[in-house]
Amino acid sequence: MASPQQIKNLQNTFERATLGSPNAVSTSPSQSFLQQQFQRPRSVSQSQSKSLKPFNTGDIKILLLENVNQTAIDIFNGQGYQVEFYKGSLPEDELIEKIKHVHAIGIRSKTKLTQKVLEHAQNLVVIGCFCIGTNQVDLNFAAQKGVAVFNSPFSNSRSVAELVIAEIITLARQLGDRSIELHTGTWNKVSAKCWEVRGKTLGIIGYGHIGAQLSVLAEALGMNVLYYDVVMIMALGNSRQVPTLDDLLSKADFITLHVPETSETKNLLSAPQFAAMKDGAYVINASRGTVVDIPALIAAMKSGKIAGAALDVYPNEPAKNGAGLFSNDLNSWASELTSLRNLILTPHIGGSTEEAQSAIGVEVGTALTKYINEGVSVGSVNFPEVALRAIDYDQENSVRVLYIHQNVPGVLKTVNNILGEHNIEKQYSDSQGDVAYLIADISDVDQGKLNSLYEQLESTPYKIAIRLLY
Ligand SMILES: NC(=O)c1ccc[n+]([C@@H]2O[C@H](COP(=O)([O-])OP(=O)(O)OC[C@H]3O[C@@H](n4cnc5c(N)ncnc54)[C@H](O)[C@@H]3O)[C@@H](O)[C@H]2O)c1
Repeated sequence: MASPQQIKNLQNTFERATLGSPNAVSTSPSQSFLQQQFQRPRSVSQSQSKSLKPFNTGDIKILLLENVNQTAIDIFNGQGYQVEFYKGSLPEDELIEKIKHVHAIGIRSKTKLTQKVLEHAQNLVVIGCFCIGTNQVDLNFAAQKGVAVFNSPFSNSRSVAELVIAEIITLARQLGDRSIELHTGTWNKVSAKCWEVRGKTLGIIGYGHIGAQLSVLAEALGMNVLYYDVVMIMALGNSRQVPTLDDLLSKADFITLHVPETSETKNLLSAPQFAAMKDGAYVINASRGTVVDIPALIAAMKSGKIAGAALDVYPNEPAKNGAGLFSNDLNSWASELTSLRNLILTPHIGGSTEEAQSAIGVEVGTALTKYINEGVSVGSVNFPEVALRAIDYDQENSVRVLYIHQNVPGVLKTVNNILGEHNIEKQYSDSQGDVAYLIADISDVDQGKLNSLYEQLESTPYKIAIRLLY
């Protein structure tokens, strides 16, 4: 049996894996913080495997809006960050006031981080969108300002996959219609054209995070699974990739879409594709609203070619909850669609579960923490993705330089001339559009010279932002 010390070590290892390495020597970038650090003697025992932080992370201020999940708050509190939390979004003038001095901001979909708002952010290092979408943020302007943006694209994959499983059975048994009938007093006990799903073929278009989860769940129900994807992907279980979309359409009883919204996926299922399906096939779309040509689907359902469908996403969706919003004013075919039988319509709730919300809190909270503490930008949606192995704690005089700059020739030469006064242990640099990002670890840096290093880097041309972690 493991001893208490072994268990503690395991807990520490787990904490390191999830919250960034405490062996990484890292700190806040602010000038005031640097000054505090010069005065503070650093005496930390190396023998501990530590949740110990070698710096006063209380200096980092995070503004969390729109009821960001508690899992994220716990992560930030665990780091010693100062968290200011609001259940709702803020009016623009208040947001402008609050954003002025924070290092990080966490939002969901209602808060608009426009150029006008971001222009007031003086210390902002990173933005966390605790959701999938990022179009509420001016991503380009944020990048130009040296602010990385993270989101959580995959935390709700399981929730979507489970919804699709529920829909497969619901469509096969016409449960939606039976339920509506009985709600209105009609007893309609039928078995005609109601099926078990065991032994039927599920065709998955797009075998990514959601498609692959779904494949495993569907096989557990005894379904055969085929999938089509533009890239070759290893099959899970007994599922099988087919070479063309037509192959999938002609063989599947249930067809479900799990592709991104791109110019290639617009109207991926339209009249010719419905015609190529088996008679009585079922169609499910919980990916993006543009992927299915809805008027063509309506025609295919009216003709009886398609026996049922489930839609969770639409080309135009209401911006808020409320009665009467899903109307012909929004999508010209809305009333024709809603009159169809064996059609499940849900308001983009595929990923909307408590579990997904808490997973989003962990995913984005961890990404922000890694970026603040270590400069790792992997997963950022607007920024060059750069990572560097952590600095070991025993490398007393090592400094991590995070240098964001305009992507023009000659910058790295200037920067490396400055860094070259020390030993450059490792460095990594990448660019995205006009913005480039360099991480470098340098050793043998006299603590007393940190300020001068900072000032030299600060005065380089084409610099956008700098942080020093030590
Ligand atoms: N309904 C919801 O609430 C909800 C929640 C989460 C995600 N989504 C949406 O679900 C979709 C899938 O999400 P994911 O996380 O599985 O994405 P993913 O990026 O993990 O997988 C997408 C897959 O589609 C494939 N693909 C791309 N273009 C294709 C094409 N033209 N034909 C066939 N395959 C193609 C990719 O190669 C990839 O394997 C996305 O559109 C996402 O926005 C919806």
